[in-house]
This record gives sequence, C-alpha cells and structure tokens, in this order.
Amino acid sequence: MGGRRQWLGRNEDRAGGPFQILLLLLAITGGHSLEIRADAEVRAFVGEAVTLRCWFKTFFPVTEKLTVDWTYRPLTGGSLEPVFHYQADAYPAKQGTFRDRVSWAGDVARQDASITILNPTTDDNGTFTCAVKNPPDVEHNIPNTVLTVTQRGTTFQLTSAGLLSLLVFLPSAVVVTLLLVRMGKKSGLLKGRKKKASYKKSSIEVPDEKQMKKNHTDLKTKYHLKAIMTSSSHFALTGLH
Ligand SMILES: *[C@@H]1O[C@H](CO)[C@@H](O)[C@H](O)[C@H]1NC(C)=O
Repeated sequence: MGGRRQWLGRNEDRAGGPFQILLLLLAITGGHSLEIRADAEVRAFVGEAVTLRCWFKTFFPVTEKLTVDWTYRPLTGGSLEPVFHYQADAYPAKQGTFRDRVSWAGDVARQDASITILNPTTDDNGTFTCAVKNPPDVEHNIPNTVLTVTQRGTTFQLTSAGLLSLLVFLPSAVVVTLLLVRMGKKSGLLKGRKKKASYKKSSIEVPDEKQMKKNHTDLKTKYHLKAIMTSSSHFALTGLH
C-alpha cells in the first residue's frame, strides 16, 4: 500500500507522465475521445431534399470498422427507429418511415457522416441522432437534430392574405369605429341629460336630509359670494368715484 502510494507520488512529480496526458486528453474532449457534431435544428420543405449534417473527430485513424448510425424519433414521442447504417458502404433503412427516402451524403475520410432525406413530409417532424464509432474509439456524445418540415409557400400565402385583409378590412374597420364612436358620443350625451333630469326629479320627489343640508350650505355660500361681490363692486365703484 505504502509502496503504491510512493509510486503514484513519484509519477505525479514527473510532469508529462502518461497518466497526466490521459487526464489532459479526457479534460479536452470532455470524457469522449470521439466527438460528434450535428446541426441542432434543421428546417425543411415538403418534397425538397434536405441534408442532415454530422461531423466527427477521432484520435484514431479511420478504418473500415467505422460505423455510422442514424436514428429517428417522432416529435410526438414513440419508439426509436433506425434510419440509416454505414459500414464501408451505405445501408439505408429497408423499412419504416424513411424507407427508400434516405441517401448517404457523407465521406468518412473527411470525417463527414451526413445523410440526405429525399422527399420529406410534414410527418417527418422529429429528432434525429447521429452516432459514429471508430473502433477502438467508441466513446462518444450523441447530438440531436430536430427536423421541422413545413409546406413551402404557406407562410407567404398567409402573409399575403393577411396583407389583403389589412388593406381591405382595416380602412372599413376604421370607418365603422369612427361611426360607432360618433353614435356612442351622441347617445352618451342624451343618456347624460336623461340621467341629470331623472336625478333632479328624484331629488325633488324624495328630498333627503343630506341633500337638503348641502343645498342649504350651497345657498349660504351663494349669498356670501353675492355679498362679497356686491361689497367689492361697491368698493370698486366708490373707488372710481
Ligand atoms: C410539423 O411541424 C410543422 C411546423 O411546426 C407543422 O406545421 C406541421 O403541422 C407539423 N406536422 C405534424 C404532422 O405535426
């Protein structure tokens, strides 16, 4: 035990030992010696071939043992489905969603494992994964590519329809709104008058104490004001004389 510790200690003291190099490699590659990259999101149009790109980095020379596997899972969930297999040659899926619709677009010598989906449909929405193994380099990450297929022209038709409706309906909507506002103002004024009239009526019919008090004080202030005004005008007049 003590001897082992001594051996490790000695090894750690030696900068650039094989153990440190391995640690450094693991740190650089994040634990995977084979690194795979793919587009996170791909948009496609119905009936127009789309390439799902995938690249890999391996520290070992590429041999005939290298394999590429593409799988698919619908956006709505469901089971994982093999789409494409490569080992020295391309093996597109013989059954399933992508039967006869996938072709090899990669080149393993250039570390490219891309595929092309021919004739995509809106039912192809989903997640694709690209897995590459280059024995003995088999530890790798698995990047996801989310494919969204839409009908080309749909958005344009929608926007043009939107524009048309804006051009046609907006002015008429403005006119209608203005008319409504006018009508509303008129009826609002009438209502206001009616309300005032009915209020007066009711206050006469049912005189309430508070209202009477208020009227009384109103009258008082009125008289006060009148008195002040007359006296001031009197002063003014006398001042003028
Ligand atoms: C696939 O996605 C597009 C865009 O979000 C959508 O218009 C289409 O309806 C989807 N297809 C299915 C089958 O859900």
